[in-house]
Amino acid sequence: MRRDAWWVPPLGVFAVLSSFLAYATWAAFQNANYEYGNYLSPFYSPLIFGPPPHGWFAHAPRWLAAISPALLILPFPAGFRFTCYYYRGAYYKAFWADPPSCAVGEPRNTYLGEKKLPLILQNVHRYFLYFALLFLLILGHDAWQGYRFTDASGATHFGIGVGSLVLTLNVCLLGGYTLGCHSLRHLVGGYLDRFAGRPARKTAYDCVSCLNRGHMNWAWASLFWVAFTDVYVRMCAMGIWHDWRIL
Ligand code: FES
Repeated sequence: MRRDAWWVPPLGVFAVLSSFLAYATWAAFQNANYEYGNYLSPFYSPLIFGPPPHGWFAHAPRWLAAISPALLILPFPAGFRFTCYYYRGAYYKAFWADPPSCAVGEPRNTYLGEKKLPLILQNVHRYFLYFALLFLLILGHDAWQGYRFTDASGATHFGIGVGSLVLTLNVCLLGGYTLGCHSLRHLVGGYLDRFAGRPARKTAYDCVSCLNRGHMNWAWASLFWVAFTDVYVRMCAMGIWHDWRIL
């Protein structure tokens, strides 16, 4: 009976998430053009097997050599996003109409809750959080590397390129998204009945809550920017875009 355009948000979620999934899958299978000088695409970070300066180990075992390095690490950030409490609410509506929108009837009579298989597995989100926090540190290091340029003599010095700022904004947006996670809020103090006498927990809880209030916006901004960061590095590596040096 809703007469407003309730179908617009789920349709937008469907279009944007589908586009992101299609692009990320394509980029992950490319196994090329993921680094440009001191810039490394977040889809390929950490680069466990690869040449310096980004690779942790120069050579992959022979049975892994044919696999794109992105496929080794993407399951962790993908799993974190896929099981995110906000995204669950969004894609349950957009992809399988459960329900199509708030106060809109479902095209089924049974309730598909999260109390039994397969959706009970979404609770693994709290464990993906630990990997997401680790990835934040790694991407922060990548952003810092984005300011360290090597000149023709092989010396490394500080500089700022547009790519440095792109990588920095990427980790900031991902930080805003990850540090506002519902599971993190529970971890830092949400499980307590009362905060009296726990000032550190209370402060941490309030900080996560502050980010959590904009969790949806952080989710979409970081999703868009992580894809754009890959596009930026890829375009520079292909010689289509030129990285402008500011300093
Ligand atoms: S609830 Fe969204 S990242 Fe944890």
